[in-house]
Amino acid sequence: MANHRFVPRGILKRVIAIYPGSFDPLTNGHLDLIQRGAKIFDELVVAILRNSEKTALFSVEERLEMLRTSTGHLPNVRIESFEGLLVDFARKSGAQAVLRGIRVISDYEYELQMAWMNRKLDPSLETVFMMPAGSYSYLSSRIVREIASLGGSLAGLLPPSVETQLRERLGVAPLAPK
Ligand code: PNS
Repeated sequence: MANHRFVPRGILKRVIAIYPGSFDPLTNGHLDLIQRGAKIFDELVVAILRNSEKTALFSVEERLEMLRTSTGHLPNVRIESFEGLLVDFARKSGAQAVLRGIRVISDYEYELQMAWMNRKLDPSLETVFMMPAGSYSYLSSRIVREIASLGGSLAGLLPPSVETQLRERLGVAPLAPK
């Protein structure tokens, strides 16, 4: 006779990952990674660091809004901000993984150092690296800010609303096409 007290339920694990960063501003490279992460993880929490030593161009509230507007179509993506250690925020969020993007090999050293340090702080938290599309391998928020401040074209590199906000913030009109 079957033991009715034992009901196999299969694997019930729900994997929550945190995708932390500055997102100053959000780029299409970030969005590409968010979309890839949303396919792999059950829930993806995109987390903007609040206590950055860097002086940001956009406030955390502006960045939260940018990210929420651009990820509204992804039901398993949540946008939040955090202060303090990433491992503490991950624990509070019930996350088992941290997602980070690696564009080119030079990213690897910094990312590896962070991943090792986070592992030392919390050995139960895994770091998962993913690659954005190759067409974004040269893209960064820093370079986007620089191109925008010099009036260069940012076609295809930012969500259109972010590009408008960036040009307004810097008070620079795009260069007329040649
Ligand atoms: O987009 P960025 O600026 O490369 O993101 C860096 C970030 C936010 C992931 C990193 O600075 C971070 O996690 N800061 C939180 C503080 C912390 O936990 N530091 C130890 C990590 S080694």
